[in-house]
Amino acid sequence: MLTLNTSDLSAVDLQNYLQYAIAPRPICFASTIDADGNINLSPFSFFNMFSTKPPICVFSPSRRVRDNTTKHTLENVLRVKECVINIVNYDMVQQMSLASTEYAKGVNEFEKAGFTMLKSEMVQPPRVAEAPVQFECVVNEVISLGNNHGAGNLVLAEIKLIHINEDILDKNNRIDQHKIDLVARLGGDWYCRVTDNNLFKVAKPLAKLGIGVDRLPHSVRFSKVLTGNDLGRLGNVEHLPSDEEIDLVSNHADVKEVLDATIGDSTNRERELHELAKKFLNFGDVELALKIVLL
Ligand SMILES: Cc1cc2nc3c(=O)[nH]c(=O)nc-3n(C[C@H](O)[C@H](O)[C@H](O)COP(=O)(O)O)c2cc1C
Repeated sequence: MLTLNTSDLSAVDLQNYLQYAIAPRPICFASTIDADGNINLSPFSFFNMFSTKPPICVFSPSRRVRDNTTKHTLENVLRVKECVINIVNYDMVQQMSLASTEYAKGVNEFEKAGFTMLKSEMVQPPRVAEAPVQFECVVNEVISLGNNHGAGNLVLAEIKLIHINEDILDKNNRIDQHKIDLVARLGGDWYCRVTDNNLFKVAKPLAKLGIGVDRLPHSVRFSKVLTGNDLGRLGNVEHLPSDEEIDLVSNHADVKEVLDATIGDSTNRERELHELAKKFLNFGDVELALKIVLL
């Protein structure tokens, strides 16, 4: 394993390692205005939500690694404490990238990148009409993380109004994760798109107290067939099955087939039972899978 001490790394190297590993990052497409009312629009992937109530997002216009200068967005929110955070979908990604060009102060990136300005209701900076979600925010605080090249500036933005394009809503007026078509930033020039193919669900363990992987027998925990994801699912069940329940599973047709085919061959039996359990895990039948591996 390569181990790096951050104090030995240049800002360029740090930026590289951190941005490739801390990814994908959502993109805040922030519109702001300066004291003269000039409009600015720039993307920031050092961005996330940090509080639900109050609803607070944070993004970070950093000092440039190259020459330690500050960004117009930072200068603007220090003067006019408002912004609109626009969410970027796949259809916007090339124009969004164009808007990150370092145009001179006062240049309106809505115009340069070809986006449509939509008047906001509570704040002065306009919204990006093309964005599927637009958050009108007031800036509560800006926290400087230093004066070095690459130092961040945390902009704490409190969301006051949420505008959502109806095309991405489901019948309950909730955002449909399939329809929003989000993109995110990774390292260097890499981006990713959230598509039907790469969306998946993981059942939350919050409602119940899973038994934990440590309660599974050694042969299961160190199985050559079961992966960490398989063990995570098995450890998420609430109770170990009783001995009677485990015995009963030997009547299941698929289990019986394995048992009959591996009489006197304990190594293959364990492997084949684990493979069968894996199949049921992939179908979502965790209870049955657990009984099989406990046989
Ligand atoms: C997808 C994307 C994400 C970016 N994220 C950040 C970021 O989190 N922080 C930052 O300082 N610059 C980031 N940048 C670069 C800024 O957008 C760029 O420096 C821009 O010119 C700043 O504009 P401004 O000076 O008008 O504020 C990002 C660029 C892109 C394309």
